[in-house]
Amino acid sequence: MKKLAVIYHSGHGHTQHIAGHVLEGARSVPDTEARLLKAEDLTRAPDELLQYEGYILGSPTYLGSVSGTFKTFMDATGRLWRSQQLKGRLAAGFTVSSLPSGDKQSTLMSMFVFCMQHGMLWVGNPILPEQHLGVPYDEAANRLGSWSGLMAQAGHSAAADSFPIGDIKTARMFGQNFAQTLHRVSVTCENAEAFA
Ligand SMILES: Cc1cc2nc3c(=O)[nH]c(=O)nc-3n(C[C@H](O)[C@H](O)[C@H](O)COP(=O)(O)O)c2cc1C
Repeated sequence: MKKLAVIYHSGHGHTQHIAGHVLEGARSVPDTEARLLKAEDLTRAPDELLQYEGYILGSPTYLGSVSGTFKTFMDATGRLWRSQQLKGRLAAGFTVSSLPSGDKQSTLMSMFVFCMQHGMLWVGNPILPEQHLGVPYDEAANRLGSWSGLMAQAGHSAAADSFPIGDIKTARMFGQNFAQTLHRVSVTCENAEAFA
């Protein structure tokens, strides 16, 4: 059994909606235990991270970076950084914003650098954009063409569950790919069993 956590913050529900689909994708892989965790809860108890072998990080893009709440969670892991207890674990990132670009790449880079500082191994989003195969743009997997992590776009003031079908499909594939990668790559976590 492999254990992974989908860790997210969501101010208005959009990132939470995508996180749910990422979780479902991860859970579709046999022998995978995937949990949904709020960044603000982990800020109070960062040692809970130690029980997982992989992390999928999710934040809305606020002013071209992760949200303040998500950054507070990142900063709360300082003690784990000093002891490098997360070293060698797998990580990936996703973000939601309202504009087609909206500087989402910058948000993914913040997550990537955070994970590199912890010595983690980064998993991308290896999905070819399906519009190149003739699938209509809104229905196409990885329609936004992001390989460094998952990007999703909800229109300005749109309902929290109002995403193009393609983004929902991509979120599930992204979660599934991460769980499959976790099974392929042998991650040994000395502390994982103590928290099981
Ligand atoms: C403070 C703030 C800053 C934002 N900055 C950006 C931005 O830089 N680029 C963008 O495309 N959208 C931006 N947005 C829009 C959000 O990314 C978008 O509404 C997203 O769906 C919010 O996700 P959430 O519902 O999970 O909080 C911003 C929204 C807020 C509230």
